[in-house]
Amino acid sequence: MPTSLESKLILSAPFKWMGDAKTGFLKILDQRELPQKETHLECRAVKEAAFAIKTLAVRGAPAIGVAAAFGCVLGAQRGKTKEAIEELKASRPTAVNLFWALNRIRKLSNHDPETVLQEARKIEQYEKDNCLAIGRHGLALLKNKSRAMTICNTGALCTGGIGTAVAPFFLAHAEGRPIQVYALETRPLLQGARLTAWELSRAGIDVTLICDGAAAHTIREKKIEIVIAGADRIAANGDSANKVGTYALALAAHYHKVPFYIAAPSSSFDLATPSGDQITIEERSKEEVTRWKNTPAAPDNISVFNPAFDVTPNNLIAGIITEKGLIHPPYKETIAKILK
Ligand code: MRU
Repeated sequence: MPTSLESKLILSAPFKWMGDAKTGFLKILDQRELPQKETHLECRAVKEAAFAIKTLAVRGAPAIGVAAAFGCVLGAQRGKTKEAIEELKASRPTAVNLFWALNRIRKLSNHDPETVLQEARKIEQYEKDNCLAIGRHGLALLKNKSRAMTICNTGALCTGGIGTAVAPFFLAHAEGRPIQVYALETRPLLQGARLTAWELSRAGIDVTLICDGAAAHTIREKKIEIVIAGADRIAANGDSANKVGTYALALAAHYHKVPFYIAAPSSSFDLATPSGDQITIEERSKEEVTRWKNTPAAPDNISVFNPAFDVTPNNLIAGIITEKGLIHPPYKETIAKILK
């Protein structure tokens, strides 16, 4: 059931488990079609859930973790949870939430469909609660700041809750505080334009869409006061992988002395990875850059480098907003202490 806050903000859930554990299926809102069409996929086999994650029908770090956990129920229905975990693990490499959620399923003492579904529901609720707590901690940072900037999509579609980086904006708006958000379009798949602009404007928030390349100019011209981005994997030293373009945004914010924050739940931290240098960055197909849907946007035979993420070094990050509170530098010590 959506909370009254979620209903007030008109947030759409990225997935829903339908029916019981033994015969049910995973219904996914196909984010590739948004905002033009709200269509759903029905995943009844593990490979369909893995394909939905791989092709970004469902996307965003916390959301792919939860979707993968539900995907395991489909494996459990056939007595093949372990195989399901392996197949889902191979769907995307960067967001650690996927591996964290699958590890929780792997560790269950019993892999019958009821037990796996119960755990998937717990993970879903955990991420929802995290969003609310992140929103509250982030709201305290906004204080009298009202001009904010963000990248990619970190809202309900990305989490199942009220989001991570945008959660403070939702809460500020719900409290009637002034908030103006500049959203980067987020090339090549336009998660900022298609999803963040859609979610924030539907909630009634004052949102302005900009091209990724306009970020530095906008920070200076529109007197941006705070930048908040999400994360797909945060290393033990605070280096943070997020959607490609985040690093450039952090550099621009740093140059203009605007605080740049990362907002992410505990499930996005990877303490086994010492620094950003060891984070695997997903590289996606060249067609994502040379075409938009079926329309060519570049010569077909052009060479393309298409990293889906980049790493923002810890020294550009003013603080990391988690459900447990705000983490400050020196990150190596504070992350270990807070996440213990
Ligand atoms: O490729 P995507 O759309 O899955 O990338 C998502 C992001 O980079 C988000 O900023 C990140 O997952 C934030 S977590 C709420």
